[in-house]
Amino acid sequence: MRSLPTTVTVAAAIQENGPVGMLVGSFAYVSSDPMLVGFFGDHRSRTLSRLLDEPAWSFNVLNSDHYSVVDAFRGPVEQRFARLTWTRSARDLPLIRDCLVSIEAVRHSILPAGDHTLVLAEVVDVHWPGESVEPLLYHNGTTTTVHRECRSEPATTGAPR
Ligand SMILES: Cc1cc2nc3c(=O)[nH]c(=O)nc-3n(C[C@H](O)[C@H](O)[C@H](O)COP(=O)(O)O)c2cc1C
Repeated sequence: MRSLPTTVTVAAAIQENGPVGMLVGSFAYVSSDPMLVGFFGDHRSRTLSRLLDEPAWSFNVLNSDHYSVVDAFRGPVEQRFARLTWTRSARDLPLIRDCLVSIEAVRHSILPAGDHTLVLAEVVDVHWPGESVEPLLYHNGTTTTVHRECRSEPATTGAPR
């Protein structure tokens, strides 16, 4: 499954001792009515169980300059935000600076999915800096980004809004 390319998102919340978060490649836009996003969390993740203690989360989709964040988030949970620039939203959720998009969402439903849990959340706010930011991608165990020359005109129909 390493060969499946994904975006890279930090799913996060703020707890008593500060921000907690984990990298997820499974983050996805799920529904527009209601507006739902979601990700698959591994049962073995200690951070997942901490996130599931919270009623809301931020989803920070990393940009192509955020490759060092991947290394930071492979480290101990207490140090993952230490070198990041982030702010606290009005809903008390961590927003990582300069993301492709940062989404604030509240718990919708939690569903079993084999050795993972599907976490669905309803979008309550979106922080979007504009179209010029490139996504960070993950493929075959390493970070990469999109190849500009492969771009086609933006689709007007049949694409996520
Ligand atoms: C690029 C990337 C994508 C990942 N995607 C997911 C994911 O979708 N779901 C998941 O549970 N873990 C995913 N992981 C692994 C978790 O980020 C990691 O296992 C977790 O933070 C483990 O640490 P913890 O036990 O301290 O929580 C991903 C890791 C990387 C590097």
